[in-house]
Amino acid sequence: MQRLLRARRYKAASQSSLGSAMLRAISSASVLLLATSIAAHAGGDRALGKKVFNRCIACHEAATDRDKIGPHLLGVVGRTAGTAESFLGHYSEAMKSAGAAGLVWDEANLAEYLKAPKLKVPGNKMAFAGLTKDDDIANVIAYLKADPKP
Ligand code: HEC
Repeated sequence: MQRLLRARRYKAASQSSLGSAMLRAISSASVLLLATSIAAHAGGDRALGKKVFNRCIACHEAATDRDKIGPHLLGVVGRTAGTAESFLGHYSEAMKSAGAAGLVWDEANLAEYLKAPKLKVPGNKMAFAGLTKDDDIANVIAYLKADPKP
């Protein structure tokens, strides 16, 4: 009887340590998953971004250099703010002076502008409230970065 009890206790103990090893394995797997989803997020998804761009398309063209209400966004990633040649006569003073002061549309600046256009460049005339979801922002930047040609 004593031996049986001891054996049972041993079994229980080994099961629970197996259990905690499994838990550890599961939690490190989920940390890994989380890390990959953050990496994917930082990269953005250009196919999804093309859909997000539907919200910009009334005012912007990204696949050609044709201006609409807003400047064309072909090659905008890396461009200095307020410097699309064909739109020079239409930019607000605010956008042109932001560019003159050194604002370049790198990914970080674009993300801030698309989140809160009026905060990033006070006085600019883009009539757009901003994108609220970080995923949408990362994806639309990935789309713009792909320099989408027709
Ligand atoms: C209602 C029209 C409108 C919508 C919608 C709109 N924009 Fe704009 N956008 C403008 C205008 C107008 C400007 C020029 C602002 C200025 O000169 O002050 C501008 C400027 C910009 C600039 C700066 C370009 C440069 O050459 O410096 C970027 C980048 C931009 N928009 C991206 C976007 C994206 C991405 C979206 C969609 C998520 C979007 N915009 C939606 C009208 C719009």
